[in-house]
Amino acid sequence: MTTSPPAAAVDFEGIDFAFDDTPELHEILAGLRAAKPYAVVPFAGVRAVLLLTHELVSAAFKDEETFPASAVYPLTTGPVLGRTLQCMTGREHRVNRAIASPPFRRSRVQEYIDPVLAPLAHELIDGFAGRGEAELVAEFTSRYPVLVISRLLGLPPEDERTVRRWANDLFHFPFEPAKALAASREFTGYIIPALRRRRTDPGDDLISLLVTESAEGERLTDEQVLSFLRLLFPAGADTTMLALANTLTALLAHPDQLELVRSDPDEHLRWAVWEGLRWEPPVGLLPRACPRATTWRGIDIPARTPMIFSINAALRDPAVYPEPHRFDLTRRETAMLAFGQGPHVCVGTWLALAELNTALRILLDRLPGLELKQGTENEARIRSQVGVALRGPGVLPVRWMK
Ligand code: HEM
Repeated sequence: MTTSPPAAAVDFEGIDFAFDDTPELHEILAGLRAAKPYAVVPFAGVRAVLLLTHELVSAAFKDEETFPASAVYPLTTGPVLGRTLQCMTGREHRVNRAIASPPFRRSRVQEYIDPVLAPLAHELIDGFAGRGEAELVAEFTSRYPVLVISRLLGLPPEDERTVRRWANDLFHFPFEPAKALAASREFTGYIIPALRRRRTDPGDDLISLLVTESAEGERLTDEQVLSFLRLLFPAGADTTMLALANTLTALLAHPDQLELVRSDPDEHLRWAVWEGLRWEPPVGLLPRACPRATTWRGIDIPARTPMIFSINAALRDPAVYPEPHRFDLTRRETAMLAFGQGPHVCVGTWLALAELNTALRILLDRLPGLELKQGTENEARIRSQVGVALRGPGVLPVRWMK
């Protein structure tokens, strides 16, 4: 493996990987990966190491010692979300994660489909089904995952509009910090009374489960519950909303694949979901850091170098996925890397998969002949959202047969 120290030179100039969107992102990543498995690139004006292969990204996620999540999240999300799971390590992380995880286990999540996930998808579609056309990001994908979380938390339906505004403001923290901090304060003030009520009179909602569960003899403090609840919006809703829109974009751009799913949803839909996550993972370029100077897998990395785990390059690595740029749900590969790996692997993987499968099944069933409106291909293209880490379309103007 090549061993050029990041201090020496950058391998790519022209875009800053912290800020700049480009329609050619996948081509740029593929070109860099063809030269070597990592690249040194500009990131917020400094040099960062961009990991590009499936092997390196997977190994880096598992190496919490060299690339601790706690070196990044307290700075990037700490001020607005608090000390979340992503900021924790060791025993503190283990205990908090053990308490927060049970409601998101695979078997538990199945119990949410009939009472929560399916009725909610129908409810949103009822709002536009008779019209024959809609803008699916505004009317469905950006609303569904936030409302799922709101309902799992047991919040009253009349508060959902406000909860959506807070979720949206928290999402835009890097560029609108004042709004995000205000949303964080308002959400905290709103949720504390509900939290206190659940401590004395628990029900079967998510907040009750968080306050009654224990691990290693410990329960969560109010602040630990609150930081987990704040994290649920950016980590759980925004990612799923982009995943839903990306898979829809992929299916609409590949009518043969859409037809295949329609021909037998029981057989093909879950593979379309996995292939959507592989083809365009919502968390595309995940920022981390390397606090101490090291030589890792032959790469010399100076102390405090920003790292970028390119999940999107790893999931199009030709060493693992033949013809990687092709959206092909018959490849039947799970794209687990889309959810990270190692100690901080996504807590909500099964919930996200259940939401994606349920929402897509109901959308395709209720909107026959669904297609992108002609002439909107450029407008609806997948782009970077809030910096470049997250990727999804800004709009999805569609029509169908009434
Ligand atoms: C398609 C949708 C989703 C994707 C692509 C996704 C992706 C990820 C990734 C890549 C990480 C690891 C971050 C890192 O290592 O720095 C992560 C962590 C996390 N995700 Fe998700 N996620 C999704 C949905 C959800 C949902 C629905 C929830 C709701 C419970 C959730 C909750 C979390 C939490 C709490 C963490 C932090 C875990 C820890 O630090 O121990 N995610 N997710």
